[in-house]
Amino acid sequence: MSVTPPLGLPTGPKGKWGPTLRLIRNPREAMEAWVKEFGDPFLLNALNGPVVVTGREELIRTIYGQSPDAYEPFAVATTTPLMGAGSMFVLDGEEHRRERRLIMPMFHGDRMKAYGLAMQETAMEQLTKHDLSKPLLTKTLMTDISLEIIVRTVFGGDDREMAQHMIDASHRTVAAASPLLFFSRKTHVSFLGLTPWDRWNKAKANLFTLFDKAIEVRKRTVAQREDILSLLCDAKYEDGQSISREHIHAELMTFLFAGHETTALTLTWAIYHLHRCRQHLVRLREELDALPDLQPSTLAAAPYLKAVVQETLRIHPIVTETLRKLKTPMVLGNYTIPAGMAVAPATVLAHHNPQTYVDPDAFQPDRFLGRSYSPFEYMPFGGGHRRCIGAAFAGYEMAIVLGTLLKRYEFELQESQEVVPKRRSVTMGPSSDIPVVVRTRC
Ligand code: HEM
Repeated sequence: MSVTPPLGLPTGPKGKWGPTLRLIRNPREAMEAWVKEFGDPFLLNALNGPVVVTGREELIRTIYGQSPDAYEPFAVATTTPLMGAGSMFVLDGEEHRRERRLIMPMFHGDRMKAYGLAMQETAMEQLTKHDLSKPLLTKTLMTDISLEIIVRTVFGGDDREMAQHMIDASHRTVAAASPLLFFSRKTHVSFLGLTPWDRWNKAKANLFTLFDKAIEVRKRTVAQREDILSLLCDAKYEDGQSISREHIHAELMTFLFAGHETTALTLTWAIYHLHRCRQHLVRLREELDALPDLQPSTLAAAPYLKAVVQETLRIHPIVTETLRKLKTPMVLGNYTIPAGMAVAPATVLAHHNPQTYVDPDAFQPDRFLGRSYSPFEYMPFGGGHRRCIGAAFAGYEMAIVLGTLLKRYEFELQESQEVVPKRRSVTMGPSSDIPVVVRTRC
């Protein structure tokens, strides 16, 4: 006899502001407590709308396996004024699909490999800028490296002065990205230039002025250029249409915003964990020292280095949940979720599930050697039709930066206290910067 799923919704915490603020402050603590109290899935009445959240593999499979047409992006009203109407984050349906078809090849395969040497060069240049007789801050170093890498990839490496302006303006934009701006449209209010919304708009306007200057340079240049902005300016959709300037602004903003802080935070966590559990560092060094050369492709193929990056993304997912708003009702486990509500695979719950990961709070890269996890157990880059377009680029970058620096330098942590994850904007990162002393390896 078949069992009909009961109609109705899961339960969850009461109120909107309280649970949203709790989720902003400490998503893992909040979600684990709600699972204990209400079960998995649970219903969260977030400020941006109601969301059914799950960390269960079979339900995540259902969510990521659904047709893209079942969904629209979550919180479009809040995200569009922040990123722009042309951002991939807010495009929907056929527009989203054709955008991905156009952009994805720019971050893949041979194109990505062409960026490898620039990644390595940037890591070395940024590190050697520092006076190594004094401690330096890991998160600051990794942010400088990954921001320069994405700026060089998107705008080209030839005009160093323009690149530096772009880097400074991007720093200011990330610093202005208060979490509240992303969690409620109601925070988008102006008052005498003093509110988070005012600060964001000022930083964004400055960045857009620089984008326009870079676009003008492309218009005047006849020589073939390989950077992503040039590809965007020349690109045509299947119907022969070019991309509008407003649309280019939004995508550039999305690449800068999505494409550097994420990798910088992961690299910072990797340095932290490797130096807290030195047996993993020793093992990684043995692997690096045995490599025939330090070519980007050699580093990217090193299995233990790859496992270190994977484990870092498991233990500290930079984005703790991915969200999809339903266009049509969806059966999820024993519930029927109505159109208009959202569903969210909670990466942070799945990545700490003790049934999947033995001792989930321990940093153990070996768990990725000789075993693979399904895309519904391990999903640092999200999944389904919105999976991160920069995943391969980021994986390549992190292996090259980490491998190059650890092969050539010794790092020594200067503080012994535990560093824990803390909310930044939509991302999570280390609660404090991590001072290290760096020495050249003999
Ligand atoms: C460690 C590094 C990174 C992490 C952890 C990360 C994580 C994510 C996650 C979780 C999503 C949402 C996926 C979903 O909704 O299912 C996403 C989307 C996205 N990411 Fe990344 N990302 C990283 C690096 C990058 C880089 C280097 C770029 C390059 C520009 C990038 C560009 C994007 C874009 C454009 C989207 C939107 C995709 C869409 O909506 O179709 N990301 N990323």
